[in-house]
Amino acid sequence: MKSYAYVFILSLFIMSCSTSETSSENSIHTLEYQKQVDSLLGKMTLEEKVGQMVQYSGGWDLTGPATNANTQLKKQQIEKGLVGSMLNVTSVEQVREAQKLAIEKSRLKIPMLFGFDVIHGYKTMFPIPLGEAASWDLDLMQRTAAVSAKEATAAGVNWTFAPMVDISRDARWGRIMESAGEDTYLNTQVGLAKMKGYQGEDLANPTTMAACAKHFAGYGFVEAGKEYNTVNIGENEFHNAVLPPFKVLAEAGIATFMNSFSDMDGLPATASHELQKELLKEKWNYKGFVVSDWGSIKELETHGVTANLAESASMAVQAGNDMDMESNAYAEHLVQLVEDEVVAESRVNDAVGRILNLKFQLGLFDNPYKYCDEAREKTDIMSKENMDLAYEAALKSMVLLKNENQILPISDEVKSIALIGPLANDKNTPLGNWRGKAIDDSAVSVYEGLKGKLSNSVELSYHEGIDFIKGGESFGSPLKINTTDNSKIEEAVKLAKSKELVVLVVGESAFQSGEGRSQANIGFAGLQNELIEAVYEANPNTIMVLMNGRPMDISWSAKHFPAILEAWHLGSQAGNAIADVLLGNYNPSGKLTVSFPRSSGQEPFYYNHKNTGRPTGSPNEVVFSNTTDVNDEPLFPFGFGLSYTSFDYGEIKLSKNNFNKGEKLTAEIEVTNSGDRFGEEVVQLYIRDLVASRTRPVLELKAFEKVGLKPGESKTISFEISEKDIQFYTANKKWEAEAGEFKLFIGPHSEELKVETFHYE
Ligand code: BGC
Repeated sequence: MKSYAYVFILSLFIMSCSTSETSSENSIHTLEYQKQVDSLLGKMTLEEKVGQMVQYSGGWDLTGPATNANTQLKKQQIEKGLVGSMLNVTSVEQVREAQKLAIEKSRLKIPMLFGFDVIHGYKTMFPIPLGEAASWDLDLMQRTAAVSAKEATAAGVNWTFAPMVDISRDARWGRIMESAGEDTYLNTQVGLAKMKGYQGEDLANPTTMAACAKHFAGYGFVEAGKEYNTVNIGENEFHNAVLPPFKVLAEAGIATFMNSFSDMDGLPATASHELQKELLKEKWNYKGFVVSDWGSIKELETHGVTANLAESASMAVQAGNDMDMESNAYAEHLVQLVEDEVVAESRVNDAVGRILNLKFQLGLFDNPYKYCDEAREKTDIMSKENMDLAYEAALKSMVLLKNENQILPISDEVKSIALIGPLANDKNTPLGNWRGKAIDDSAVSVYEGLKGKLSNSVELSYHEGIDFIKGGESFGSPLKINTTDNSKIEEAVKLAKSKELVVLVVGESAFQSGEGRSQANIGFAGLQNELIEAVYEANPNTIMVLMNGRPMDISWSAKHFPAILEAWHLGSQAGNAIADVLLGNYNPSGKLTVSFPRSSGQEPFYYNHKNTGRPTGSPNEVVFSNTTDVNDEPLFPFGFGLSYTSFDYGEIKLSKNNFNKGEKLTAEIEVTNSGDRFGEEVVQLYIRDLVASRTRPVLELKAFEKVGLKPGESKTISFEISEKDIQFYTANKKWEAEAGEFKLFIGPHSEELKVETFHYE
């Protein structure tokens, strides 16, 4: 077995982490059950220990007879105590049956963990993460995670593979829908809120569940946004942009980490000793465990860094990967690897200790069936209360991108509306991808929402315009977008012409974004462009509603339509919430957490880029960093979103212009609601470090506050800046603040900012 040698090939790049990252002093996630863990470990055979590191996917009918050899084998393994966790086994009945095999048949009766991708809800669907992040409402995001946990635990699940905190700057990457967008600070705050929601105060509470920070690390930077692609990112950017949310979550006590499919600097993350062992477990002092991504241990072979599954097992386990999700690498080879002294038994003990510790924390040893409560399964899932929260989240996640001549909200004087578009009466698309156990076609459609909320005196007519998706789609299935049959457009055009106003609902199908859904083109797929242009020509008085899982190229629409409402994939209550925004029952308050480009070719496209050597600021510059065919300015910038009211910003007042280590600086600004209705504004603070030992972004979000103001009301928003807000990974390979001049900006979005200057000594 030669593979273990790889483990010790340290790239200089990551080596630097070990000198730069300080170990966490305030880690609350300690091995609190060490005594019980040690005592149990003492009783376990090597086979049983390795078994704890094995995770299998269920998805078979556990209550019926095992119909195939694989299922039969998995059941036998559980009975022998050789399976630590299952994923994709859901419902009280199924979980109880599986757990029973471990508890009633296995020698040591060690309960299993049950994991599932509860990404934006279990059965009650909340907006997809990219949409919900646009609410900038951390309390809301914590509450939706808590309800997701309540539902999932009522169905036997005690571990979610969320939150994903991969910084996502490339709209071509389908998994951007699972992130909080392109900003590191925001992803960190959202990740924390989500973790707190899932895990609650006490993991032993049966309505909370273990969370998982994923994918460690770099996955969001796959080249060209192509799924599972190679990542090439420099050390400085990796530390500044990618690692911070993971470090914060590790320190805050997130129960588990998942590694990434991607390779970086020649090494797949699953095999990275430097990332998992040295950085996460040693420098950050992380006490939870690392689960592989699905089959990512086996994929070390396809990456070409191992020759067979045994080498893959060896490399992954020694790198610090504790649990094997669906590779069968540990199950088949780890015992032998330890017996051959290729892998030290102490490494196995360490991994098993971490896994058992979580089982103790969850209280599974006291009651392995604590998540198997049929009564809760009936009352806690899809309750009225949960649906109300889904409605609130959907309302707060929408972003009003354009609203000329106050065409929105729809005036009472409008007496006839044509609702057109393939997504206008679609009850499935709003559920989005990664939809847990959502019931297909269970969302409220825009048609249903408008129908229920419009007064009887308004005539509402609907036409789909085109069949967008032909037949059903699901996770991983081939996309079935209609690209040929435009026969229905004519009727839709007729309808558009005959009504005072058109609401046109278009965008992406639910499964166009998500895992395995990268696209080279982020415009409208299928025949939507044809429909969009025909409807506009028929009736320019058209409001566009977008449903999508990524920023899209909507340049043509943004130029022509008077109003555009970004409605993402909003979840179970989508239609009710969209109707309430269109009709003015709710004043939109969301802001983009991703920049919208003008063309797919601009991706990756993000606000916090570097200045580069040019533009220099000289008015005579003729050649500089830009594109000559497409305007470089975002179509809609990071942080942008309109309201039905308006907000005026005063000037920034700094408590002082110089501050030293250990001191704080206060930045204040007065914000006034200058319109005539209540509204909420996300006030954003950015900083730019003008001269540093390494190039710094032109802007970096450092704080924000969402404030609600009545008409005419003013409020002074106050932000405290300290040394930590100007720290970065410097030329010394350390997080530190460098002395010098900084610009501080406050405003409604990243392209409209008041500015002040301060010095740090
Ligand atoms: C994804 C993970 C997910 C896992 C289990 C993988 O394909 O990358 O994010 O948690 O599957 O479903």
